[in-house]
Amino acid sequence: MKNLVVLTGAGMSAESGIATFRDSGGLWDKYPVEQVATPEAFDADPELVLEFYNVRRRELLNAKPNKGHYALADLEKHFDVQIITQNIDNLHEQAGSSNVLHLHGELMKSRSVLDDTIIYDIDPNDSDLKIGMKCERGYQLRPHIVWFGEAVPMIEDAAIISEQADVYVIIGTQMSVYPAAGLLQYVPSGVPVYLIDPKEVSVSRRGVHHIMKGASEGMKELADILISKANR
Ligand code: APR
Repeated sequence: MKNLVVLTGAGMSAESGIATFRDSGGLWDKYPVEQVATPEAFDADPELVLEFYNVRRRELLNAKPNKGHYALADLEKHFDVQIITQNIDNLHEQAGSSNVLHLHGELMKSRSVLDDTIIYDIDPNDSDLKIGMKCERGYQLRPHIVWFGEAVPMIEDAAIISEQADVYVIIGTQMSVYPAAGLLQYVPSGVPVYLIDPKEVSVSRRGVHHIMKGASEGMKELADILISKANR
């Protein structure tokens, strides 16, 4: 089976009711990045940062995958599908996708401020992180999120996966945050690239097939195209 590599962003989960970041009314309009999503913010006001992610987590616990997530999971019948997501939600996994690499961390995990390899699953029934909640070595727990200004440890794996694509798909991302936005440069020339986004997105590559639709409708259209090509 061919390798289908999919890079997803906030627009993938928009139809599940999870706000995007940079659209009007997006998260960064309401909460300035530097106050809630940087290591400096956590040093200055850890309660505010924990609460910001507690609210995001509660939203996620009330959300469900949309038809776009399910359509991607379904494509595993026809392709080896590897998803690289910038999203911190787990909606791809909930929809049944088997291979999901989280570039920017995971909302349903916490980790120690001492050691970023001490990671815990968060109990959906008791999901708020609070000051005083500690790892086994006695250090405060923080969200398992890559904040602005922090290294993106999974980027090398994501680059290798992108190099191995036979087909590349980008869904619901403005492609404005690096290093994620640079992954397209690893996709070999000649590999077909599809983009699903209802708005114009500026990408540094010619010949990208832009399906100007939301994730659910766009994925339906793309699945038809890909499956008919795969069966030819
Ligand atoms: N279906 C598909 N795409 C959509 C939909 C939809 N229903 N609704 C909106 N979009 C598109 C927007 O047109 C936009 O291009 O989703 C994109 C969202 O862009 P951003 O809000 O910038 O989100 P993203 O690109 O994922 O941000 C990258 O930035 O703030 C950080 O860490 C955060 O992972 C995030 C990263």
